[in-house]
Formats: sequence, C-alpha cells, structure tokens
Amino acid sequence: MKFFADTGDVAEIREIQAMGLLDGVTTNPSLIAKSGRQFKEVIAEICTITDGPVSAEVAALDFDGMMKEANVLRKIAKNVAVKVPLTVDGLKACKALSSEGTMVNVTLCFSPNQALLAAKAGAYFISPFIGRLDDIHLDGIDLIGEIRQIYDNYDFKTNILAASIRSANHIKDCALIGADYATAPPAVLKSLVKHPLTDKGIEQFLADWKKTGQTI
Ligand code: G3P
Repeated sequence: MKFFADTGDVAEIREIQAMGLLDGVTTNPSLIAKSGRQFKEVIAEICTITDGPVSAEVAALDFDGMMKEANVLRKIAKNVAVKVPLTVDGLKACKALSSEGTMVNVTLCFSPNQALLAAKAGAYFISPFIGRLDDIHLDGIDLIGEIRQIYDNYDFKTNILAASIRSANHIKDCALIGADYATAPPAVLKSLVKHPLTDKGIEQFLADWKKTGQTI
C-alpha cells in the first residue's frame, strides 16, 4: 500500500518524507485554504518535495472551466494529478484529460456506482471518502471493499485511493481489503508506528540491560 499525506502544510509533508513514508500528496480546496498560501505556489513547492503524484483540485464545476483550470494545474509540474469531483462534468473532464495522458484523481466518491463510472472514464485514482460516510452512520470501509470487488471483476486499472481517513484502524482495514493507496492526515500516518506495549517493552529491556552494566 502506498501512503499519501493529505495536507497542504509543507512542513508536515517534509516530516512524513523524513520518516520514509511519503509516496505522494493529496490536497483539496479546504486544505489549501487552511495552508493560507497561494494555491499554485504551494502545489509547486510540494512537487519539489516529492516526485510522487500531487493531487491539485479544480474549482470549476463545468467541463470547459475544469479543462481550463486543469491546463493550468498540469503545467505546474509533471507529477501533478488533476483532481475533479464525481459529477457528469467531472467525469467528462476525466475522460478528456486521461485520454491526453494526464493523471486524474476523481474525488468525493461515496458509492460503488460512482467508482464504476470513474473507472470507465479512465480515472487514474478514485477517492472514496471513508470518514464522511462514517459521519452519517454508514460504513465507509464497506465501500472500499465493494469498489475493490468491482474493479477486480472487470480488471479496471483505476487505483483505489482511500481518503477521508481518520484513524489507524481505517488504514488497517483498507490494507486488509487491498486498497492501492491511502491518503491520510500526517498525524494519522505518524500514529501507525505507535503501540503502548512496544514502548513498555523497550522500557523493560533497557531497565534489564542497564542491570548488566555492559555496553555494546
Ligand atoms: O482527501 C480528502 C480528505 O481531505 C477529506 O477528509 O476528514 O475532511 O473528510 P475529511
């Protein structure tokens, strides 16, 4: 499974990279607003930090507007993945952009049928939002499993990029199902390594080692 950092904060991205966990980055208009920076500038900087895919989302809702904005975004760097919403116009833009060889991330996916349409439109990534389904008392992880089964049934090449991840358990469940990628807030990625019994075990080993009076 590949990990993307889901943030527009370059300091956080560098931290995840230093941990050896960074395979790419996803952003969205809310994350860019939170960064407080100019959109194109922060995407350009992120693309110098990683050579993995960096998702940059269009703001237009109509096909022509999406294509115009996509042209701006994909010129920023070769590893930009253009993010479009799961709408009729978004799917049309996905088909047009992917046929030109542009990496497209179709986002705001909440149903298996939406994911099926995105794959048929040539999406490179599909972003099903787990946390937001959980928020309305549905099971976001079920959606990942259904998309996995549909994509495997028809050998679709679209990558499942699990998104709206809120916990280490989401990562675990996505890995058990076989999501290709997971994009998560850096805090969630950093939490993966933690376990209280590991900390307790290290503490005990060191205490016992100290008693030997030896050094290595
Ligand atoms: O990449 C999508 C992600 O940023 C959405 O997460 O927690 O706002 O549902 P969340």
